[in-house]
Amino acid sequence: MLQDSGVPHADDVDDAAADPADATATADPTDPTTLDPAAMRAHYRDEGLSESELAPDPFAQFTLWFAQATASGLHEPNAMICATADERGRPSTRTVLLKRHDERGFVFFTNYGSRKGREIEANPYVSLLFPWHGIARQVIVSGTAERTGRDETAAYFRTRPHGSQLGAWASEQSSRVASRQELDRMYAELAARYPEGEDVPAPAQWGGYRVRPETVEFWQGRENRLHDRLRYSRSEGGGWEIERLCP
Ligand SMILES: Cc1cc2nc3c(=O)[nH]c(=O)nc-3n(C[C@H](O)[C@H](O)[C@H](O)COP(=O)(O)O)c2cc1C
Repeated sequence: MLQDSGVPHADDVDDAAADPADATATADPTDPTTLDPAAMRAHYRDEGLSESELAPDPFAQFTLWFAQATASGLHEPNAMICATADERGRPSTRTVLLKRHDERGFVFFTNYGSRKGREIEANPYVSLLFPWHGIARQVIVSGTAERTGRDETAAYFRTRPHGSQLGAWASEQSSRVASRQELDRMYAELAARYPEGEDVPAPAQWGGYRVRPETVEFWQGRENRLHDRLRYSRSEGGGWEIERLCP
């Protein structure tokens, strides 16, 4: 249980619709009120997050929270929303998977020719958001993205399942494709060329981005919407400053 392990949780006491699992079990799709998002209200009743218990840098703090998110049984705790903006400042978002994190930053892999890839090349400022709703937490990273080295990309690509390796070749991410059949045909051609067990090289257009944070905010849900928000900002001297934000 989350409570017992000391990991906070989102506790819904208002109505069944606040819990997606309960909502599936009890919601009557013909009753407009049960699916009304305005009536969905989760209550958070957790221990808080205080300045005194924070790690000195956001990487250590993230490592701790990531371990707790994983231990809580959250599905895909490494899934994060990645926001980019084009050169005119128009934003776009999508989910990507965190594949590495250390003092250098947060790494995900993608197609460099995708919409996000093109936007990052034009404007390297990105934001990442870990939506850990099940434990009433979120982490928001803001910073700049840069490509990982080819060696790092190749090393990660080798760990991917064979089918995912072929998928990276088959999909020209974010571009139009005529039909599902077309996608399947491209995959089948690649599967014939690279049967299971055969080495698949990483496509030149595919690789990692490392997001070097300038700020990292740790958000902890609390009672009465008086949530804790503690934000690390990189200081001029190279260390980190921590400030509390109003919820
Ligand atoms: C749970 C989940 C994980 C995903 N992980 C990745 C990922 O690690 N890399 C990636 O390129 N796309 C990933 N996607 C697909 C993206 O959300 C998105 O559809 C794709 O990258 C194209 O985005 P873009 O056109 O905005 O560039 C994931 C989607 C979901 C739902």
